[in-house]
Amino acid sequence: MCGIVGYIGDKNCVPILIDGLKRLEYRGYDSAGIGIVRENDAIVVKNKGKVSLLEEKLVEQNLNSNLGIGHTRWATHGIPNEQNAHPHTNSKNNLFIIHNGIIENFQVLKNALIKLGYTFESDTDSEVFAHLIDSFLNKGYNLSKSVQMALIEVDGTYGLAVIYTLEPDKIIVARKGSPLVIGLGEGENFIASDVSAILAHTKQVIYLDDGEFAEVSINNFAVKTIEDETIEKEIHEINMSLDEIDKSGFNHFMLKEIMEQPESVRNSMRGRLQAESGSAKLGGLTDVVDRLINSKRIIISACGTSWHAALVGEYMLEQYARIPVEVEYASEFRYRSPIISSHDSFLVISQSGETADTLAALREAKNKGALALGICNVVGSTIARESMAGVYIHAGPEIGVASTKAFTSQLVVLALITLLISKRKGISKTKAVELATELNAIPKKIEQILNLNEGIERLAKDFQNAQNFLYLGRGYNFPVALEGALKLKEISYIHAEGYPAAEMKHGPIALIDENMPVVFIAPKDSTYGKVINNIQEVKARGGRIIAIADDADGEIDEIVDYTIKVPRTIEMLTPILTSIPLQLLAYHIAVKKGLNVDQPRNLAKSVTVE
Ligand code: F6R
Repeated sequence: MCGIVGYIGDKNCVPILIDGLKRLEYRGYDSAGIGIVRENDAIVVKNKGKVSLLEEKLVEQNLNSNLGIGHTRWATHGIPNEQNAHPHTNSKNNLFIIHNGIIENFQVLKNALIKLGYTFESDTDSEVFAHLIDSFLNKGYNLSKSVQMALIEVDGTYGLAVIYTLEPDKIIVARKGSPLVIGLGEGENFIASDVSAILAHTKQVIYLDDGEFAEVSINNFAVKTIEDETIEKEIHEINMSLDEIDKSGFNHFMLKEIMEQPESVRNSMRGRLQAESGSAKLGGLTDVVDRLINSKRIIISACGTSWHAALVGEYMLEQYARIPVEVEYASEFRYRSPIISSHDSFLVISQSGETADTLAALREAKNKGALALGICNVVGSTIARESMAGVYIHAGPEIGVASTKAFTSQLVVLALITLLISKRKGISKTKAVELATELNAIPKKIEQILNLNEGIERLAKDFQNAQNFLYLGRGYNFPVALEGALKLKEISYIHAEGYPAAEMKHGPIALIDENMPVVFIAPKDSTYGKVINNIQEVKARGGRIIAIADDADGEIDEIVDYTIKVPRTIEMLTPILTSIPLQLLAYHIAVKKGLNVDQPRNLAKSVTVE
């Protein structure tokens, strides 16, 4: 949430900042701004709305500077407008800050600063940083010390970057709860909230950890704790190319990422799945696998789409690995005094690896002695680094705000973990080989589903004006119903509910009439017969039915209004296939409604605030 980028070097920073902000726009896009320092002069340019509007404004001004910071905002405190956009400045206009996170005690600090004579221009919590740091500069401290002292006073979370006209040879950055990386170049350095912003310039990065701050100059960087201890940091090489974060000819990142799924799930399995022997090798779990297998309970915790993947994981692990599994919303887990011990394994799932609630749940479980594991996509993310062990899904960068390829790759990794544990717990070789062989065949089956794209686009036309949607599924496909509904509502703004199909009779059936489209996820699995009964109940009440069904199912076409056929697989893997037509349906409906599917209103890709 919110994107941060900064540059110090001998080039003009303005195009670098704008390019970085465009790449970060998926993190927040309600306003943007840059602050630059040149020859003791400081200039801030900000704008409500997209980075492209800021860019237009900047073209007119033709600015040039070797030091600058930029920010794209996802509003927390204060509406999206120019005043609330970052950077924020002190009243002398010689100090600029950009901030990602929330200052919990901002009102107390603000009141104290107002008493000291400071005036505030915005409604944001972030502006407190500008005046608070200024108050220490006024006492004669240098910039680094002033930032450090301000951080001691602040409760809350921050990824922070600060520049100051009187010390134009540095950017100060700090991190607590919101990611920050330093990018190392030749005669230039960068700072950013994630590597995509600076990947065009460098692949050498340093990840700041919570409680650290750094002074970054043209040729150097120094990292310290807020308590002033110097820290040696490891330099990481980013293994990602610029192509991976471009649209590659697609109209939207979301469509590109949907279409990438044969490859992304292949990458999730590569080097891990041994189909012939029916086994899985997960290097990241090697050291903890015995403890995992002997856990009395596995708790899986996540948010949003990743939480839906967790629900599927629960079905997989309980069916095959025979370990009790509980699934928890991370946001609920952390505030309800959970009972957890060293006999539990606690597995968090997060595409970004930065979701604040998921990270807090992981830390809570770790503190309570559980085996704390992570399934993440973003390499080097906070959750990946703080987990005791884990597995990367290797889906590649996911930029579209609506999660698609990360979901299917999360399911693949959960299937691999299931295979790994159940093999060790003695499932039959035949069963293990069947499971592994089916998993191996999944990418090809996804290719077949993606060939249905045009048909699904035509179907979307019939439903673009719907006001509501119901998604129903059972067993493994109940979480898919939730995920299908989430995809539709987040990008098309159509109200959609996901339910277990059998629950419909306990309330939602009252909603059904000829204006209510109902999507049934109905592959031929162990619940098929029951789902058909539920379909009949909807049909009897005039609902318009779309069914996601097996390609060999001839009978369902007679009952429903529309079918989307997916290839057959074993029950446990059906969600990987059935979720894909629902991604395409949501995508095409949203596009037909003229909406920005990659940046839906009010959302951001990485939810780093509670
Ligand atoms: C929905 C979506 C969100 C995320 C959720 C968790 O399409 O993307 O619901 O799944 O915010 O994010 P991660 O997986 O990054 O922890």
